[in-house]
Amino acid sequence: MTHEIAVIPGDGIGQEVTPAAVEVLEALEIDFEFVEADAGDAVKAETGEALPQETYDLAASADATLFGAAGETAADVILPLRTAVDSFVNVRPAKAYPGVDAVRPETDLIFLRENTEGVYAGHEDRLTQDVSTLTRVVTESASERLADFACDYVAGDDHDGFSIVHKANVMRETDGLFRDTVKRVADDNGVETDEVLMDAFATRVCLDPEQFDVIVCPNLAGDVLSDLAAGLVGGLGLLPSANIGPDRALFEPVHGTAPDIAGQGVANPAATIISAAMLLEYLGYDEASEDVHEAVEATLEDGPRTPDLGGDASTEDVTKAIIDRL
Ligand code: NAI
Ligand code: MG
Repeated sequence: MTHEIAVIPGDGIGQEVTPAAVEVLEALEIDFEFVEADAGDAVKAETGEALPQETYDLAASADATLFGAAGETAADVILPLRTAVDSFVNVRPAKAYPGVDAVRPETDLIFLRENTEGVYAGHEDRLTQDVSTLTRVVTESASERLADFACDYVAGDDHDGFSIVHKANVMRETDGLFRDTVKRVADDNGVETDEVLMDAFATRVCLDPEQFDVIVCPNLAGDVLSDLAAGLVGGLGLLPSANIGPDRALFEPVHGTAPDIAGQGVANPAATIISAAMLLEYLGYDEASEDVHEAVEATLEDGPRTPDLGGDASTEDVTKAIIDRL
């Protein structure tokens, strides 16, 4: 079966790193059909819309989407695109890669972040000049969906269960429901869990990241704590991510458009190529995914390297070196 892959490069270095990742996927000679679409600042300047309907529809119908980055319009692009794939979990690995100066090189974590609700559900009001409010939404159904995914995830990839990170001691109803539901699903599946309060987690992960492996958490906690972990592994530059839905998914580097280096041909393509490796795994090409991970790691270790990692190679040189290793 041919898989249709939507390719949305976006703005800035998205236009450089996304084609690089597509080149790597093409080199694998898998039967993919790539369909490119526009989103971001440039298309907004041209048409008035940051996310044209046809781009949304493409992401909503393709088997998987590879997204680069958008500039000022990032929120107007990425949030609806996550909706287009009905993404209920954001998978964010935080792993120190060779060749990167990490604060905690031993860090190797996977965040499974709830991706639809919590404080990001959008129920905010300005009641008076003085008072504003926010309604936090947590549902049993979304928590179950996340927990089911987490149980499959740890079973498929040889992990000893997962940690539930929450703040149910204060947010008793919302995080209480989240914690109880995730724990129940894990118990039903025979998956081991432990619980960590999110503030304690922030301290403990900095002091000793090796005590954690897979972390399951609500939306805001996952956003903040995975960025904290990104700091431990040397910044956002090399980190991939996946937004998974029931039938489709969207893969993107964690970094943005890097306006300071855009157009120079020196952007590091590694984060997007690792995101493409996650796409391969999602579509069932486990071996090809592993090969791409290994080729990227070997290239980070032995070079060539882009300037952000102290080298002087171009995006193209690095991409070619990765493809040569495949
Ligand atoms: P950024 O991630 O674009 O850049 C931060 C720093 O990291 C810059 O010095 C940049 O040169 C460097 N960098 C990032 N990716 C790199 C790569 N692949 N190779 C080499 N160096 C790299 O974040 P910043 O500067 O905060 O945001 C720039 C624009 O990107 C803003 O307009 C922001 O809204 C947008 N953005 C979009 C995101 C998305 O589309 N998902 C995510 C984050 C930011
Ligand atoms: Mg964030």
